[in-house]
Amino acid sequence: MTQTADLYCVFGNPIHHSKSPVIHAMFAKQTGQAMDYQTNLAPLDGFAASVQQFIEIGGKGANVTVPFKLEAFALAQKLSARAAMAGAVNTLIFSAGEIIGDNTDGIGLVRDITHNASKPIHGRRVLLLGAGGAARGALLPLLEERPASLTIANRTLSKAVELVEMAKKSAMRSDCEIEAKTWEQLDGSFDLIVNATSASLQSEVPPIPSSIFSASSLAYDMMYADTQTRFNLYAQQCGAQTRDGLGMLIEQAAEAFFIWRGVRPETAPIFAHFRPVEG
Ligand code: ATR
Repeated sequence: MTQTADLYCVFGNPIHHSKSPVIHAMFAKQTGQAMDYQTNLAPLDGFAASVQQFIEIGGKGANVTVPFKLEAFALAQKLSARAAMAGAVNTLIFSAGEIIGDNTDGIGLVRDITHNASKPIHGRRVLLLGAGGAARGALLPLLEERPASLTIANRTLSKAVELVEMAKKSAMRSDCEIEAKTWEQLDGSFDLIVNATSASLQSEVPPIPSSIFSASSLAYDMMYADTQTRFNLYAQQCGAQTRDGLGMLIEQAAEAFFIWRGVRPETAPIFAHFRPVEG
C-alpha cells in the first residue's frame, strides 16, 4: 500500500473468511492500480453507520456480502437497473457525495458460464432452481443473454411465479418462454441448470428428476466448496458436466473492479491461484 492508494472494502458479518481482499489485491497488482482493499466487519445493527464512517475516511467504494445486501439496497441513493431487478446490492460506489448501488453477482454468473466455461446461454433452455435472493439476482443478466426458454423451479411455487412475473415485465424477455414449475412438474432436459437454492447449506439437494440432465447439460452450483458440492455430485451421477460458484465469485469481483477503476482485470490467474489443478 502507498499513501496515495484509494480505499475500498467488503462489508459483511462474519467477514474473516472472505476471499475478496486477495482477489482485489491480485487485480490491483495485475493492472497497476493503487488500491487498498480490506475486510470491514460491520455490526449486525450498524451497517449504515459503518458505511458512513468508511466514506468519512475517504472510501471510494465497497463490496457488500451476507447479511447486508438488502440494507445496502435500501441505503443506495441511486441504483443500476440490475440492482433494482435483483432487489439487492453487492457493490457500492461513493461518488460526489452520493451512494450508488449496483449488483454484479448475476453478471458474474453469466460471464463465468459464457466466457470461462465457454457455454452459450443464447438460444438455450435454461432452468433456474430457487426463487430467493440469489435467483432474483441472476434473473436479468440471464435474460440479457436471450435464452430460448427460462424455467424457474422452486419448493414454494408462489415465489417462482413472482419471479416469472418480474421476468415477464422485463424489457429483456424478448421471445423467451418463461414459466414457473414445482420440482415434480419438471420434465425434459435443459442445456443449463443453475442451482440458486440454499439447500446445500443444509447438505440437501432439491428433489429434481434426473431426466433434467443430459451429457451436454451444464449444471452450475452458485455455491462453492473445497470439495464437490452435493448438487454437483448428483448432477455428475446423472451424466451432466458441472461447475461451481468460485468462478462467479471471481467474475463478480472483476465487474466491481471494472466499475470502480475503469479497467477490466484478467480473471484466469485468480482462478488458477485458488484452484491450481483446474486453473
Ligand atoms: P439466498 O439469498 O441464498 O437466495 P433466500 O432468499 O433465503 O436465500 O432463498 C433461499 C432459496 O433456497 C429459496 O428458493 C428456498 O426455497 P423456498 O422459497 O421454498 O423457501 C430454497 N431452499 C432453501 N432450502 C431448501 C431445501 N432444503 N430444498 C430446496 N430448496 C431450498
